[in-house]
Amino acid sequence: MSAASAAGAVPDGRRVAVRVPATSANLGPGFDTLGLALNVHDELEVEATASGVHVEVSGVGEAGSELSVPTDETNLVARAILHVFDRVGVEAPGLRLQATNSIPHGRGMGSSGAAIVSGVLAAKGLLDGIVDVTSDDVLRFATELEGHPDNVAPAIFGGLTIAWVDDTGPRHKQLAVHRGVSLLMAVPEATMSTKLARSLQPDAVPHADAVFNVSRSALLVAALTQSPELLFDATEDRLHQSYRASAMPETSALVGDLRAAGHAAVVSGAGPSVLVLATDPAARLEAAAIVEDRAQAWTARLLAVDIRGGTVEPIPTSAAA
Ligand code: HSE
Repeated sequence: MSAASAAGAVPDGRRVAVRVPATSANLGPGFDTLGLALNVHDELEVEATASGVHVEVSGVGEAGSELSVPTDETNLVARAILHVFDRVGVEAPGLRLQATNSIPHGRGMGSSGAAIVSGVLAAKGLLDGIVDVTSDDVLRFATELEGHPDNVAPAIFGGLTIAWVDDTGPRHKQLAVHRGVSLLMAVPEATMSTKLARSLQPDAVPHADAVFNVSRSALLVAALTQSPELLFDATEDRLHQSYRASAMPETSALVGDLRAAGHAAVVSGAGPSVLVLATDPAARLEAAAIVEDRAQAWTARLLAVDIRGGTVEPIPTSAAA
């Protein structure tokens, strides 16, 4: 980031529009590292105002709905905007937010990462011409709030991302997914807390399990980009899914049944949704039939990879006329 003008302030009435994709993290062996952007999006409009924070939400998280989100300065999108202003040392304006959400909450589809990236991108847009917030800054600020970069990286950059953290902060490599890969997301009615899921992880794992996951995650990058026929072998995991299975037994059972039928099924993020990386459209429909046969209510969603990632655009003030 570079300070273009130490004295700058966001003009009242400046507006930006933001669009950010859902994501699926881990993808089996790539715990806290691999992520995929999905074609389900949250949309946001933000206006700089004289004072206060006002949030309107429609769709997922709206007032009165299950898992409704706060509409004051504790709202996660608002917190992300304010975090960026704090980090770049510019006084935050008042904020009016209008969020239109489609990403399910608590299902392992990156809703909190998307909310954070939406806020960080909105701040970047509001700060245009005042402070240059680079895409590396967006990844850094979003990771500071999310704690790990595997959801926020694909939400920012799109496609398949490898994310890691070094002494300089979070880094990423974006890759294009092979066109022979089709996605199915099985979404249950139940929700799962990422915090709870992470609390079930051991502090140490056997060396053999670490080697197992190193081999599968390296293979998975090749399978997703060049050789989809390797997806089944490449999606095995010994670092997180078995430790968390007791907290989401239906998810674990569905992953087992799908894999027994030959499908590359994994827990999506911290769960409880299940992602299938199918090798062709017919295999995806076979997997969808297995999902829809469950006694417990699951929704099978046929998805695609979002290749664009998060966007922020100015809304011209004259457009209101
Ligand atoms: N890598 C994260 C986890 C993704 O599995 O805990 C969910 O935030």
